[in-house]
Amino acid sequence: MDNIKASNKIFSIEDAKKLSKKRLPKIVYDFIDGASGDEKLSEINSFALDQIRLEPRVLRNVEERKLKKNILGFNYDYPFGFAPMGMTNLSWPGADSMLAKESARNNIPTCVSMASTTTLEKMYELSEGHSWLQLYIFQDEAFVMELLDRAEKTGYEVAILTVDVPVLSRRTRDDKNGFSYPFKIGPKQFFDFATHPVWSISTLLNGIPKPMNYETSKSGKGIFKRKESRGKTDWETLKRVRNKWKGKLIVKGVMSSDDAVKIKEMGADAIQVSNHGGRQLDSASAAINILPFIREAVGNNFPIIFDSGIRSGSDIVRSLALGADFSMIGRPVMYAMGADGASGLRRIVDIIKE
Ligand code: FNR
Repeated sequence: MDNIKASNKIFSIEDAKKLSKKRLPKIVYDFIDGASGDEKLSEINSFALDQIRLEPRVLRNVEERKLKKNILGFNYDYPFGFAPMGMTNLSWPGADSMLAKESARNNIPTCVSMASTTTLEKMYELSEGHSWLQLYIFQDEAFVMELLDRAEKTGYEVAILTVDVPVLSRRTRDDKNGFSYPFKIGPKQFFDFATHPVWSISTLLNGIPKPMNYETSKSGKGIFKRKESRGKTDWETLKRVRNKWKGKLIVKGVMSSDDAVKIKEMGADAIQVSNHGGRQLDSASAAINILPFIREAVGNNFPIIFDSGIRSGSDIVRSLALGADFSMIGRPVMYAMGADGASGLRRIVDIIKE
């Protein structure tokens, strides 16, 4: 009953955001909503998108409308998918499977983070093959190679190498709240959980979220250390990943035309223009402002995916108008599930589609 009421109150991403703020423990909401340093870039991303105004054209027969999009040779029903996000089940128990099922329902891709709270194999099954796998190279490159083997065996055709986190940036709110993995529960966190009993009880009943790709590592290699340096990742690393992965390879977190051109030359199949939703270099440009330069640099035929700041269907249109072929949505789907689980997610996806 409560669920039906919550979803009926959602008419925009802002509504979902407000509801999730009430329903989630502060430490969890802040992990999702937070950004790096002064936290301004996350707002600047959306503000810059908002500044782009579209020209309405008239008297064209638009009786038949379709939003289908082909990216990397795959046909999707909409020009957007779900961005990779680690520890997704913190937003609500079962969030990963909600994302997977919603991607299958809409025929759109869902990106499975290496730090996903459900195994890549299970995500592939639940999404009916709509999953793309995202990877970081931490200190142990062998673990990434193992994940690529698992992905290939499972049937994955797209891998994403995220390169914009050489070191995890300072996340002000996480530091203030004492957010860490493995979770440490002191009096402050205990109070936070106790005052959000629905989330806390559901989470306890469903099991504390864990990075399941690590937990199921056959070689025992993978140990998830969120703050471990990824600083060794360089052009040679990209070469090794490219040699290893025979499927489509996307390089995510690109904000410079020079880097984009070099990544294209090194044989990646696409780049993802992104500043990590303002969660990494806080003094970087708004991602949307960089997009046209990158499009110009790589030419018209090289696939570009865009994320960072998308908060509506119009924002997706804006990104396509400025040179993207496809967009990914991050926080809005987490707000949606935090607000009202699977119904909240469905509501937000439908709003974006409309
Ligand atoms: C992320 N992002 C991210 N990116 C990635 O490549 N691997 C990851 O594991 C994560 N984890 C993650 C967790 C959470 C809670 C958030 C909010 C984001 C970044 C994500 O893929 C995407 O780049 C941004 O979220 C896009 O910006 P918006 O839409 O959130 O503004």
